[in-house]
Amino acid sequence: MPALTDPRPIGVFDSGIGGLTAVRELFRQLPEESVLYFGDTARLPYGNKSGETVTRFALEVTSFLVRQNVKCIVVACATASSHALEALRARYDLPVVGAIEPAARAAVAASPGGRIGVIGTLATVGSGAYPQAIDRLLPGTQVLSRACPLFVPLVEEGWLDHDVTRQVAEEYLVELRNASLESLILGCTHYPLLAPLLGRLMGPSVTLIDAGAEAARATAHLLAQRGQLAPSGKAGRAAQHHFFLSDEPRRRSFARVAESFLGRPLPHVTVVDQTDLPWFERPHATPRTPDLETPR
Ligand code: DGL
Repeated sequence: MPALTDPRPIGVFDSGIGGLTAVRELFRQLPEESVLYFGDTARLPYGNKSGETVTRFALEVTSFLVRQNVKCIVVACATASSHALEALRARYDLPVVGAIEPAARAAVAASPGGRIGVIGTLATVGSGAYPQAIDRLLPGTQVLSRACPLFVPLVEEGWLDHDVTRQVAEEYLVELRNASLESLILGCTHYPLLAPLLGRLMGPSVTLIDAGAEAARATAHLLAQRGQLAPSGKAGRAAQHHFFLSDEPRRRSFARVAESFLGRPLPHVTVVDQTDLPWFERPHATPRTPDLETPR
């Protein structure tokens, strides 16, 4: 009996183009798969927004991808993964892979003593999603977490090995460097580009876990398990990729940044037309008390 296959594309989304680090890994691990990518550049960053807002954005973007007939969703954005996975899985009847569980699993495997650190955006660290996932795998593990909000703009500026970035990293990582960690989860799409710098600061005994790469690996495993890999060899056709953005900001530097994430020039991009009913035209605006608690 021939193996089951599914030629439909893999849907990937992120708050912007940082998720291209995960796409790069998908290209590497699954070269025959077509990828349909959505970067919500009009609403970036997600990392300093509330969980409710991030979840709403994630549901909207996923609706778009589902309408494009994707076979699964990869939430490359750690912030969206840490807040919206449950809502996405409850609403959509297709597999949703996030950036939390696969990285938690890899960190546990690399840390026999359970000494694990996590860095991410304010929203990701504030959600506690990584420590919770790790606790489910290895109950009682004390995970040391640190939000590093300045890393995202520094990476977008291309300051990957700049003195300023090193100073910022030294400041953020003080506690983590003194904690004899075995592994550190890079829980944000942008951080893999800082891996050489972070690796030097943390030292060779700390394994850096790339959350996007782990999500790509989990996707490959899931598709193989479900008989949903793209047909290969003669039965297959060349992979076709489509990139959608909700805005194309700072046109000149955009291509350079995108290329640094993807590892190759970004092909043609479609900027979507946003015709959503504006919030100020909706009948009820429900007041909400802001949660002013500051995550570490
Ligand atoms: N993509 C986000 C993440 O992985 C980082 C950028 C943002 O704050 O939107 O958490």
